[in-house]
Amino acid sequence: MTRVGDLLVKEPSSRTILTRKHVIDLDDFAVDEIEYVFSVTDAMKEIVGRDIKKAPSLRGKTIVTLFYQPSTRTRVSFEQAAKILNADVINVSEGSSSVAKGEALINTVETLQALAADVVIVRHPHAGVPNVLARNLERMGVINAGDGMHAHPTQALVDLYTLRNHMGSLAGKKIVIVGDILHSRVVRSNLWGLVKMGAEVTLCGPPAFLPLSEAFTQIGGGNAKNSQVRIETSLEVALDGADAVMALRVQSENHGRGGITNIREYIRLYQLDARRIQIAKPDAIIMHPGPVQEGIEVTTAVARGSQSVISEQVTNGVAVRMALLYLAIVRNEATQ
Ligand code: CP
Repeated sequence: MTRVGDLLVKEPSSRTILTRKHVIDLDDFAVDEIEYVFSVTDAMKEIVGRDIKKAPSLRGKTIVTLFYQPSTRTRVSFEQAAKILNADVINVSEGSSSVAKGEALINTVETLQALAADVVIVRHPHAGVPNVLARNLERMGVINAGDGMHAHPTQALVDLYTLRNHMGSLAGKKIVIVGDILHSRVVRSNLWGLVKMGAEVTLCGPPAFLPLSEAFTQIGGGNAKNSQVRIETSLEVALDGADAVMALRVQSENHGRGGITNIREYIRLYQLDARRIQIAKPDAIIMHPGPVQEGIEVTTAVARGSQSVISEQVTNGVAVRMALLYLAIVRNEATQ
């Protein structure tokens, strides 16, 4: 057992987690590492539920959020998570960093390291940026808060944690993800996690959103016939027997690079509405990583209905990110 704040958390069976400084994607997370993150998250959730939600775990540590794209839930939940654990938080955005004056991003981040920051949380429009930063920093940890269309590992951990809280083991569970698969970094990170946890995943959307289907089925092992990841263009077929349904935001701002031209047609065929969710299991949960465009991906009635766990995902985001900060800083230091 290990102490988190004033709580005890069960140790993982492997020591992988004890050396993690960076969180870039879930492809290199072992299953017991994900489960350990969830054990620490359970402890953090207890702290978040207190009247005075404060624990001293990160006192004296400095967290920097460095966001080159807009964000509400990821940036604010990281700030909230860091503050609950008593860290100091510095927020840097695109317009306020010296990148706007021509400085290379690596120089900006090395400057943050020289200013004694312990972890930088990076969101960037270009895939691979957090990975390159992590490889070039000697001391400071890097957490990927979303890079291009590549990955969003902390959102995927939030989604997996929410699923696990509702259905226990994900082994054999049918998870449908519907929407703008092409542009979604959330879906890519979720696929790694869901497949590792044993879920059967169906990706659904119009053909224009599914051009990488072979690469997706390969993540699920094997080919289109025997993979844990299935591709389906009919939402009605995809929803049959689903344990959970996750809608993704239609990223209209990216559709110059491929996508759909007729949003009304998308709504007609792919919107989650009261009629369609009845095709899934009666106790199926409805998810959305956000930001939600009610009336497009999902009707307001479904987004705010009894099966929706969308708000719960947001709330879980704080505890999951508290766990990740704790593991990246405190546990990592303890093993050096
Ligand atoms: N899910 C997500 O990344 O939301 P934000 O863009 O608001 O951070």
